[in-house]
Amino acid sequence: MQEILIGGQKGTQVIMDAAMGNRHGMISGATGTGKTVTLQTMAEAFSKIGVPVFLADIKGDLSGIALAAQPNDKVNERIQQIGITGFQPRGNPSVFWDIFAKTGHPVRTTISDMGPLLLGNLLELNDTQSGVLYTCFKIADDNGMLLLDLKDLRAMLTWMGDNAKELQAEYGNVASASLGAIQRQLLVLEEQGADQFFGEPALKLADFCKTDFSGNGVISVLDATVLTTKSPKLYATFLLWLLSELFENLPEVGNADRPKLVLFFDEAHLLFDQAPKALTDKIEQIVRLIRSKGVGVYFISQSPLDIPEDILGQLGLKIQHALRAFTPKDQQVVKSVAENFRNNPAINTVEAIQELKTGEALVSILNKDGSPTPVERIFIRPPESQLGPVSTQQREEIIGRSPFKGQYEQVVDRESAYEMLKNKALHEANEQEAERDDKPKASRSSQNRQSVSEVLLKSAARTLGSTVGRQIIRGLLGSLLGGRR
Ligand SMILES: Nc1ncnc2c1ncn2[C@@H]1O[C@H](COP(=O)(O)OP(=O)(O)OP(=O)(O)O)[C@@H](O)[C@H]1O
Ligand SMILES: [Mg+2]
Repeated sequence: MQEILIGGQKGTQVIMDAAMGNRHGMISGATGTGKTVTLQTMAEAFSKIGVPVFLADIKGDLSGIALAAQPNDKVNERIQQIGITGFQPRGNPSVFWDIFAKTGHPVRTTISDMGPLLLGNLLELNDTQSGVLYTCFKIADDNGMLLLDLKDLRAMLTWMGDNAKELQAEYGNVASASLGAIQRQLLVLEEQGADQFFGEPALKLADFCKTDFSGNGVISVLDATVLTTKSPKLYATFLLWLLSELFENLPEVGNADRPKLVLFFDEAHLLFDQAPKALTDKIEQIVRLIRSKGVGVYFISQSPLDIPEDILGQLGLKIQHALRAFTPKDQQVVKSVAENFRNNPAINTVEAIQELKTGEALVSILNKDGSPTPVERIFIRPPESQLGPVSTQQREEIIGRSPFKGQYEQVVDRESAYEMLKNKALHEANEQEAERDDKPKASRSSQNRQSVSEVLLKSAARTLGSTVGRQIIRGLLGSLLGGRR
């Protein structure tokens, strides 16, 4: 068994079997109670046994995971308390990523890949507007046409507006008001810097699933400091996209002694904030099914009640840091959280939750048979890596020796919908000019009018680089299916 020591106290240690790592988990607690440090400890424990890790650094205090800890008296005391042997300060193999390309490698995907469901949610569209966005994707998908960046999507929407009449028969009504609303929302998104997220080269999922030469799992750290303040919705959308991509692309795995990959989703409430029920239902479904692909998802949030009940019910590992209960509503939350644990007669869960010190937690893991263990009160193992951030210079050094250096930095703007539609417009203008000079030819071409998709298909086929050349099929959350890359 591959062991993950979570923590302990007075002769009891809580050790998780890594084979249960794909049973998902939750780290919760009020602000400043130790969630991030617990996340760091768990992440490095997975890395150490060869499991790649993805995590988001919300406050900029997690990058130290790449460097060795400088133990102090407090840490040493804790090592004694828990009975840890062989504590070895060490940095973990880490790769830094940043959607804004400032503090790490840029992470990108394409509009086509994200799909209309997630994009509609990101743009906060209403039902009618979403309908128009679906039509937009349908036209592109039917014709095997890729929308790579925001400019492609804009061009496509403009083209739909100009051709609304012709589109009516095949695709139904395309209201110009809805097109306008979507375009306005795209502007908002651009102002938040989201245009940098859409385009190529798109992230290769395999780059989040690496181990280093010594067999340690590489930890992919997404800098989410600016992202979560500037565009929390884009942050949530990125995580959901990542989840659905992994789900659609990873193969099923049988019972393994450890997960293939674990994801830590901090500020997890953002994933579900104002998400329509259709989306939440699908997220729940993916979280349930992704286990069989060997992926473990760990949610971090102030209260477990931030997470939909259906997901809460699936979680194998629960680490609960202190909660404060000042108001009757707080007290109700504490009570509900306590009830979510399997009772341990030695512990008054409701009281304990409120008494826990920083870095102390109530923990439940899974037994071999999958049932939850009774709740234990323990000190969380201190990380062997540094608490707090790396310096700017250290960060640059780490980025400088990254295996992905130079692979993502340069944007590639290959021919896609924007260029295709622009060429098409040019082509039409030329034809109109020719028409004026050459009447009979014009009447011939208007006789056999082609359907919209025929025209698009032909123009798409002419620009092979930007097409998949066949109908695009979408997965559960609407991302692209099948080995496009
Ligand atoms: N397991 C631990 N061992 C040693 N020190 C710890 C541990 N957990 C927390 N601490 C100390 O407590 C501080 C606050 O913890 P942490 O940043 O993890 O809280 P948090 O719950 O993530 O807070 P926030 O909600 O504000 O992000 C840390 O900077 C560290 O000094
Ligand atoms: Mg934190």
